[in-house]
Amino acid sequence: MTERDKRLFIKTYGCQMNVYDSQRMADALAPLGYRETEAPDDADLVILNTCHIREKAAEKVYSEIGRLRQLKAERADAGDMVIAVAGCVAQAEGEEIVRRAPAVDLVFGPQSYHRLPRLLARVSAGERGVVETEFPAEDKFAVLDHLNRRPGDAERETAAHHGPRMVTAFVTVQEGCDKFCTFCVVPYTRGAEFSRPVARIAGEVERLVASGVREVTLLGQNVNAYHGEGPDGTAWSLGRLITHLAGIEGLARLRYTTSHPLDMDDDLIAAHRDIGELMPFLHLPVQSGSDRILAAMNRRHSAADYLRVVERVRRARPDIALSSDFIVGFPGETDADFAATMGLVREVGFAQAFSFKYSARPGTPASEMDSQVPEPVKAERLAELQALLGSQARAFNDRCVGRTMPVLLEKPGRQSGQLTGRSPYLQPVYVTAAADRIGDLVEVTIDAAGPNSLGGKIVSNDAHRSYHDPVTQSEGIAL
Ligand code: 5AD
Ligand code: SF4
Repeated sequence: MTERDKRLFIKTYGCQMNVYDSQRMADALAPLGYRETEAPDDADLVILNTCHIREKAAEKVYSEIGRLRQLKAERADAGDMVIAVAGCVAQAEGEEIVRRAPAVDLVFGPQSYHRLPRLLARVSAGERGVVETEFPAEDKFAVLDHLNRRPGDAERETAAHHGPRMVTAFVTVQEGCDKFCTFCVVPYTRGAEFSRPVARIAGEVERLVASGVREVTLLGQNVNAYHGEGPDGTAWSLGRLITHLAGIEGLARLRYTTSHPLDMDDDLIAAHRDIGELMPFLHLPVQSGSDRILAAMNRRHSAADYLRVVERVRRARPDIALSSDFIVGFPGETDADFAATMGLVREVGFAQAFSFKYSARPGTPASEMDSQVPEPVKAERLAELQALLGSQARAFNDRCVGRTMPVLLEKPGRQSGQLTGRSPYLQPVYVTAAADRIGDLVEVTIDAAGPNSLGGKIVSNDAHRSYHDPVTQSEGIAL
């Protein structure tokens, strides 16, 4: 380690956008001599990149701050350890964090992380409890793209940190949300919708591919509302962006998340039909199957609207695997409302899904609604829903046994001599293979299925980039 090297530990909570943001923070700090380390113990700077989506996620942050305060106190060089809180809890709670936890030196929101070097300079100059939660006028991505173009590309640093080679990567293309679902803090913590220009995104994807990445997941809180400026000066849809990025030589796979049912436009559905690089997987949260609850949630669509979207997507890509988010126990949810959710799940058949108990978030309209649902009722409904979703996921996995599908080998598996990759449908797949195969797209015949993963044998070394499964195409995958 040179004298200038400093150690950085970032702990990431919550969604994939936070994972991406943490990598960008590391990029922003690399020119200052910060290198990532595996544990907070000897770090000069600890950043907690936080999530505010549910109460539990936010509470975890305060317990972690408590542990760090202890660690800092035990260290001889205590004064040299800077504790920073970033992300959505930082944005939502701001000053409150330094009041409640004076060990925290710096608090900054998701729109300010490109200002990290300046903020840290203020901390080093002796300022206590620096808080930065403005939504600055400048474009943080523009600042970060400039950093990316430096020699010694920071992406390589990240790749080196994560193992032999980084095969998959996230790229934020859209951020923020204008939908204002009544339960959700995102429009307040991430701000208004913003789409990055196509050329910037393409540049970032090209750099990633040059460093060995083969699969890119395009991220946005409302990614299919993407409307970034295209090279021709007009606003491009997500479908058009995907079609453009699929042309990048060396990029094998594209995915995107998270989508809103209202924004599944014809371009995007056509991309699922026409673009082989676009994987047959769609995370399309519906939240509830009851029209009454959907209206109270301000989702702006009915259960029937959702089913129609699913039908259109399945017509375009019959083997597509569907995923969703669900909330049980939204204020006013009756047994009949919950039964409607169960009915929708049975009708659609999900390959996987996330489900949560409603959690009242301060400042959101739903938190002030009457008839909050008692905790035991929420717990009971969640268990029932998760049992159904679990059995659907298991059935989906079971139906993959005996089929041959392309798998992108990403990293070492749990056992030695094993690698793990992903199927087109996002299932983790375990195979026996040497570590130098990481980054290969191989054909695997599936011979085992578990609740959350598959196992198989490599039968051919090079899988076609595009994948239209002949079996599921003819038979459909609806449960
Ligand atoms: N309570 C429970 N779940 C929530 N989500 C968002 N806000 C809340 C809340 N207040 C869930 C939604 C969303 C996912 C990211 O988190 O299902 O799609
Ligand atoms: Fe939250 Fe709704 Fe926006 Fe999704 S669409 S981020 S749930 S407000």
